[in-house]
Amino acid sequence: MTNDMTNDNDIIFQPLTFRNLTVSNRIFRSNISGRFDNYDGSGNQVRINWEQKFAQGGVGAIISSFTPVQIRGRILPNYATIDRDDRIPFWRKLGEVVHEYDCKFIMQLSHSGRQQDVSGVENLNLKALSSTSITESFHGFECQAMTKAEIQETVQAFAAGARRAREAGLDGVELHSANGYLITQFLSSGINDRNDEYGGSLENRARFLLEIIKAIRQEVGDDFHLQAKISAVEYNNAVIPWEKPGNTLEDSIQVCQWMEAAGVDAIHVSTGSIFPHPLNPPGEFPRIEAMRWYDLMLSSGIHTFRNYLLFRFPLLYPIFLFLWNRVQKQTQDQPIQGLEVKAQALNESFQRFVSSEQMQELLQKYQGVSLNHAAEIKKQVNIPVICTGGFQQASYIRRTIQENFCDAVSIARPLVANNDLVHQFKAGKDLPERPCTYCNKCLLNALENPLGCYELSRYNNSDEMIAEIMTVFDPAPFR
Ligand SMILES: Cc1cc2nc3c(=O)[nH]c(=O)nc-3n(C[C@H](O)[C@H](O)[C@H](O)COP(=O)(O)O)c2cc1C
Ligand code: SF4
Repeated sequence: MTNDMTNDNDIIFQPLTFRNLTVSNRIFRSNISGRFDNYDGSGNQVRINWEQKFAQGGVGAIISSFTPVQIRGRILPNYATIDRDDRIPFWRKLGEVVHEYDCKFIMQLSHSGRQQDVSGVENLNLKALSSTSITESFHGFECQAMTKAEIQETVQAFAAGARRAREAGLDGVELHSANGYLITQFLSSGINDRNDEYGGSLENRARFLLEIIKAIRQEVGDDFHLQAKISAVEYNNAVIPWEKPGNTLEDSIQVCQWMEAAGVDAIHVSTGSIFPHPLNPPGEFPRIEAMRWYDLMLSSGIHTFRNYLLFRFPLLYPIFLFLWNRVQKQTQDQPIQGLEVKAQALNESFQRFVSSEQMQELLQKYQGVSLNHAAEIKKQVNIPVICTGGFQQASYIRRTIQENFCDAVSIARPLVANNDLVHQFKAGKDLPERPCTYCNKCLLNALENPLGCYELSRYNNSDEMIAEIMTVFDPAPFR
């Protein structure tokens, strides 16, 4: 299947210009990382190998994985951090490698708040800091509401993170204000239960985020790229139906307008207020992987036994799946379609597991899950909008940009499956021969195993799959 236009006219390959940054095409690598770095938060060669794969594969920019601005805000050990000046040389080296491929590197400045998947030994006896002292409802992560002094300290930690990213020669920063992490915990009407000036009205709930933006601008000036990832709709009750639903699209549009006025250069649209969430990353919840690898995360919260039963006992799993899939049904009205998936476009052995008709259904279900919301936000702001969620078909991506749903798309799993997806699009492919099936096996493996694509149907055999996953360790730091 080939593209219906020449590359010269193809919007996918037109540069996107932000106030302080130009990216050479419309495909961003979305935030994704495995536990490739050192335990203490210093980076290493494996991370460089990982990011190099995508730069080499042709994406215009990489938006980094969750990068903690404080150790207390870490979600998992073995993620490189930006909490100290001595982290700068590693990030500088990483930026230099990525830049060799005309690819930009945007660092995601992050803080877990109460969503601390595996606290790590240095956080073990400390409750996570949050906007609230109420335990998170899905995993049961415990937390305590931040004092005003702790809020101010954290605002300054974000600003210092931005300064370090700039000193490292990176191309910009993204605030991780989506997916249920600390900033969402402040923004959310479903989570934030404060009585001070950081809680209550939307204006008060947005105060923490807007103070961070102000502090970053004071620290790095107006000429450094700053974008924010936001959950357009929270669906805070997606898994536990009796939770408060949280922020609406209208709330988020208002927050985006305030962010634009405060000096944010772009919005990255996501969804949900926990991670993982039924809509982010969209796709299946893989039972076998949950049985094998989810224990580590379950034992971080206090709902361990309940969730252990739900994941382990075949009779109870349908209850979990019913809860998990409920919200997906509300979002299946697709605004656009890509080209039809023809059998000859898919690899023969892959089709023994996933037929072209099944692949078509998967694309219809999961591609562009947040696109309608991105379009609504785009109508209400003047800065570019990047949308995440399920994109992997050139004809579909092209229409999203041509028809003004967003200005660029960000892709995570389909790029893990096909690191060279952008080159494939350029060569005329509409969909890779072995596409990502949205099985989410990578997501659950990532807790304990190296990140990579774990969908066996995409490989000839399991040896080939493991060999491909292990390429991230080559070159090793020492030979
Ligand atoms: C293993 C894994 C790790 C992720 N890590 C992050 C992260 O660190 N920060 C973030 O904002 N989103 C993270 N995401 C979400 C992705 O950036 C993306 O928004 C989501 O997977 C939907 O895009 P996709 O359908 O192209 O995968 C992660 C997703 C996966 C599967
Ligand atoms: S394991 Fe592979 S096919 Fe499955 S969601 Fe992850 S990248 Fe896609």
